[in-house]
Amino acid sequence: GRSGALAGRSVVVSAGGTREPIDPVRFVGNRSSGAMGVALASAARAAGATVTLVGANLHVPAPAGVELVEVETTAQLREAMLERASADVVVMAAAVADYRVRGAADEKRSKESWGDAPTIELELNPDILAELAGLPRDGLLVGFGAETEADDAALVERGRAKLARKGADLLVLNRVGHDEGFGPVETRVRVLDADGVVADASGAKASVARAIIDCVAQRLAGTTSL
Ligand code: C5P
Repeated sequence: GRSGALAGRSVVVSAGGTREPIDPVRFVGNRSSGAMGVALASAARAAGATVTLVGANLHVPAPAGVELVEVETTAQLREAMLERASADVVVMAAAVADYRVRGAADEKRSKESWGDAPTIELELNPDILAELAGLPRDGLLVGFGAETEADDAALVERGRAKLARKGADLLVLNRVGHDEGFGPVETRVRVLDADGVVADASGAKASVARAIIDCVAQRLAGTTSL
């Protein structure tokens, strides 16, 4: 078998950004590249885990040695994650669209059908992380929180509130803005558990991902792998 801190463990990581169709050719989406989730999948694989990457519209290639499950919409991502919820580690790194388009059209919309001032109505998507947290499980559930809060203490406080609200075991908190957080840039994350900040890492996404995976491996140490 493989060696490393996560040898014998199964890890599922969602990455990228979900798209919600308006019609067969248009969608509402976000700018997530999937770089952080892909870096995590790569770090987990390097630590010896069997890794599945549930990729939503990735802008970056999936790492070698990782099973890739491609999805587009939030509904598809939810189904892929629920099917794999019994993994030893489940990481929700994807930017999930909070809303989907109500009554998405089966046929391409046109200016004739839409008129001069169309409106797109949205409806709430399920919160996949919260749903995973509500399932009976033995594994470790890791969520992400991208916040724009400039003040550091307030940022961490928002993260702690989010962790509690979602019910995950760990929350990876990062600050995002117009030039922070998205794409292959330097980043800083804090990893939170119910008691507070358990790790603080800065640098390229690959090195931050290794620090997060170290944290996960420490949590799992002492529990038995099947
Ligand atoms: O509430 P917020 O979007 O900031 O939460 C971010 C975390 O929740 C991420 O782990 C993200 O993958 C997850 N999420 C989810 N389903 C949603 C929205 C966010 O699983 N509908």
